Amino acid sequence: MLRSALLAASRSPSLRTVVEKLPPTRTIIDRFVAGDALAQAVAVCDSLVASGCRVTLDHLGEDTLDATQATATAEAYEKLLAALKETGLAANADVSVKLSAVGQFLPADGEKVALDNAYRICAAAADTGTTVTLDMEDHTTTESTLGIARELRADFPWLGVVLQAYLHRTEADCRDLAGAGSRVRLCKGAYQEPASVAFQRKREVDQAFMRCLEVLMAGEGYPMLASHDPRMISHARQMAERHSRRNDTFEYQMLYGIRPDEQQRIVTRGDTMRVYLPYGQAWYGYFMRRLAERPANLGFFLRALATRS
Ligand code: FDA
Repeated sequence: MLRSALLAASRSPSLRTVVEKLPPTRTIIDRFVAGDALAQAVAVCDSLVASGCRVTLDHLGEDTLDATQATATAEAYEKLLAALKETGLAANADVSVKLSAVGQFLPADGEKVALDNAYRICAAAADTGTTVTLDMEDHTTTESTLGIARELRADFPWLGVVLQAYLHRTEADCRDLAGAGSRVRLCKGAYQEPASVAFQRKREVDQAFMRCLEVLMAGEGYPMLASHDPRMISHARQMAERHSRRNDTFEYQMLYGIRPDEQQRIVTRGDTMRVYLPYGQAWYGYFMRRLAERPANLGFFLRALATRS
């Protein structure tokens, strides 16, 4: 119930306006977001890299219906990639992009605008010497996102895509995308989806995650295991051993601010740990999905609000 309400709230423009105007609750938001500005993102990225992690940076934004905003987001990524090059962080940091932030939902030619903007970002990443991964949004975008990824991969074969284990289709998508060189980030899925397309129970989602991971680990690509779940992490390790995968042929990924001790433990044991690091002013949708994943986070947020008012 609570999860559904929070996920519905994450897509509500009117609630977004109200929540973004609430008294500053930076402490709780900063737990998940590097800050508003590029310089803050680069500073946090630098400290994560110094601690042995790799990083994927996300310029926050989604669901844009404004072509100018979509272009501005592509430009923000170009600036970010230039900063990664200048600071020498590109060897350990790449970027993650939501196609809805670069125009996918624009009426008429949204897919074309998103493809063109994503192409610009990929070209800038190639120039910087790093990579891009396309985030996956709700199921109405899956086919379009995978189609755009296919087109981009013709010129940028290193382009990564996210697959969400909760979707019924994903095991088959994993088989399609398990070929040599294919970078796939597997997550459980963070959106509210109907039973017609997605598993609803946690146990079913976890089992689907393990089946999908098995397909990716058995394949020839580069699996990116995006989960904070200790069971998924331990299964991944066993699968890697069973498939004789060296630890530079797959990686673990977690969100900034979630289980940082476990992130360090994975680094210390010699595996690759990449932290997903969002920054920018459009934190609302991202933050609400993090609240929905863990009701305890909502408690912290409400307490922060209460003590500020
Ligand atoms: P699960 O939700 O079962 O949580 C396992 C444990 O992790 C919890 O018991 C708790 O300890 C901890 N935990 C999980 N979420 C937490 C939170 N918000 N706060 C505090 N603790 C928490 N989704 C999507 O639909 N599209 C996408 O493109 C991406 N991209 C993405 C990238 C990366 C790098 C990660 C790690 C995740 C995503 N996600 C995503 C989100 C993903 O789908 C999923 O919602 C979250 O990772 C939570 O699922 P877990 O696998 O962590 O398991």
